[in-house]
Amino acid sequence: MSAAQKLLQWVGVPLVCVVVIVVVRTATFPSYQTRPPPCNATDEDFIPATEDRLNRLSRAITFRTISYEPGRGTPEELLKFIAFIRDSFPVVHSSPLVTREVVGNYSLLYRVEGSDRSLKPGLLAAHLDVVPVTEEPGWEAEPFSGQRKDGFMYGRGTIDCKHNVMGQMEALEFHLKRGHRPRRTLYLAYGHDEEVLGLYGAKQIAKLLADRGVKLEFLLDEGFSVTKEYVPGVAKKVALLSVTEKGYLTVKLSVRMKGGHGSMPEKESAIGVLSQAVTNLHRNPQPNLWGSGPEREFAEHLATEMSLPHRVMISNLWLFTPIIRWFLAQKAGTNALCRTTTAVTRFNAGIKDNVIAPEAVAIVNHRVHPRQTIQEVVDHDVKVINDPRVKVEVVAALVPAPISPSGPESPAFMTIQESIQQVYPDSLVAPYVLLGNTDTQHYWNLTSAIYRFSPNVMGPEDFARFHGVNERISIEDYGRVMNFYFHLMRNVDKPLVVRRHEHDGDL
Ligand SMILES: *[C@@H]1O[C@H](CO)[C@@H](O)[C@H](O)[C@H]1NC(C)=O
Ligand SMILES: *[C@@H]1O[C@H](CO)[C@@H](O)[C@H](O)[C@H]1NC(C)=O
Ligand SMILES: *[C@@H]1O[C@H](CO)[C@@H](O)[C@H](O)[C@H]1NC(C)=O
Ligand SMILES: [Zn+2]
Repeated sequence: MSAAQKLLQWVGVPLVCVVVIVVVRTATFPSYQTRPPPCNATDEDFIPATEDRLNRLSRAITFRTISYEPGRGTPEELLKFIAFIRDSFPVVHSSPLVTREVVGNYSLLYRVEGSDRSLKPGLLAAHLDVVPVTEEPGWEAEPFSGQRKDGFMYGRGTIDCKHNVMGQMEALEFHLKRGHRPRRTLYLAYGHDEEVLGLYGAKQIAKLLADRGVKLEFLLDEGFSVTKEYVPGVAKKVALLSVTEKGYLTVKLSVRMKGGHGSMPEKESAIGVLSQAVTNLHRNPQPNLWGSGPEREFAEHLATEMSLPHRVMISNLWLFTPIIRWFLAQKAGTNALCRTTTAVTRFNAGIKDNVIAPEAVAIVNHRVHPRQTIQEVVDHDVKVINDPRVKVEVVAALVPAPISPSGPESPAFMTIQESIQQVYPDSLVAPYVLLGNTDTQHYWNLTSAIYRFSPNVMGPEDFARFHGVNERISIEDYGRVMNFYFHLMRNVDKPLVVRRHEHDGDL
């Protein structure tokens, strides 16, 4: 036998095995998508986007409920906005089933009493505040006008997230007006300072609920949207239903060394040492953890809907994970899903042209992957900086959110997924990791089933509208927002049961 033949004998059998496994897994990988009866404009319980309803959203946008920093917002505007909400939904606000509380002066907590005590309550959250408008010149309509133009409504808060507040209120109004008596108790919670950490709004609401011993079946807050042209290899729209949020960690690096006159420098300086530390951080990123967290479930939810090459890889993560990790790490947007990111956001040193700075300080902003702890991230920094002269201090930290269950074994996830697919029948749903933070950080103790999703569509050109110029929602989407919450209210109004799990991932 030639060497080549020998090699083939050794390599050939395992290779054939691998190919067979890959083919079989690709062909048999289960679908996680559901096909519930679609919501249809001809349904008798469809909520049409009438002039009245659109005008109410427009009015909501006109309140300049801006948050500037914790404890500094726009009290008068908030008071006007909550009065407007009270006056706009007469059925909600006069129903004997509904109690309304104002928490921390400006936040709202509604409770809709269900008739069945055995069903744990659900909670829908959103927030009343918005971020400031900084680049006014680029706007196609005045940012607090709620003006309609070419099928869109423009303004701060149209997608973050007065559409959710108003959509939920419209759905509840519609629901109660039809004489519906809910079985499951439902809370609606609207904080007034989410954009600046929610310390005076959501945090106080959460405390109130915890003090009352409330335990929830599920909680749904704002989040990422139904995306189009976002997931590589998937042609359909994908609704991203977030099951966790990255944490954050701010680290201060400082170096103190002998200063002195610029004419007689020592070999090393504080600036030099700190620069080396920063270089080391950039050269040695935090570990790539793609596939160890919910990104895995995300990919698997979409596997059967992907183009063939993607499908082969995602159906066989046992084999392809290293390649996928490498590939995703190449671009900033996907790299952020793979690992704890590291951004050096400040670098301060020096006071005078001819004086050697005795101190240099840098601030590092990390967004922490859900499978890493704060301590692990700090340890990695210290290890790669590898210089005891660099002092490493934690300035601020929020651990990643607990990962909520997803997939067929999670009844709450499935019920939200089906409600999404009723109003977006042409879209897929997948669990996701939210890169930013929401008010949900205050609600962790109330339930382990916390989800984040906003029921509007976003394409690549829309991402910059978020907190940016020309924030807008299409009129069609707003119709779906109202109907999504309405369907969800109906779908959760019964015991949520575990479906059979058909996924067999053991091959
Ligand atoms: C909505 O329902 C009507 C009447 O039942 C049907 O003709 C139409 O195809 C449906 N549309 C969708 C999008 O399902
Ligand atoms: C609420 O308003 C009252 C009266 O204006 C004020 O005394 C109080 O400090 C406010 N409370 C909060 C939490 O802002
Ligand atoms: C959850 O409860 C624990 C124990 O009571 C408490 O220390 C923690 O701060 C709570 N977390 C939140 C987010 O409220
Ligand atoms: Zn928001």
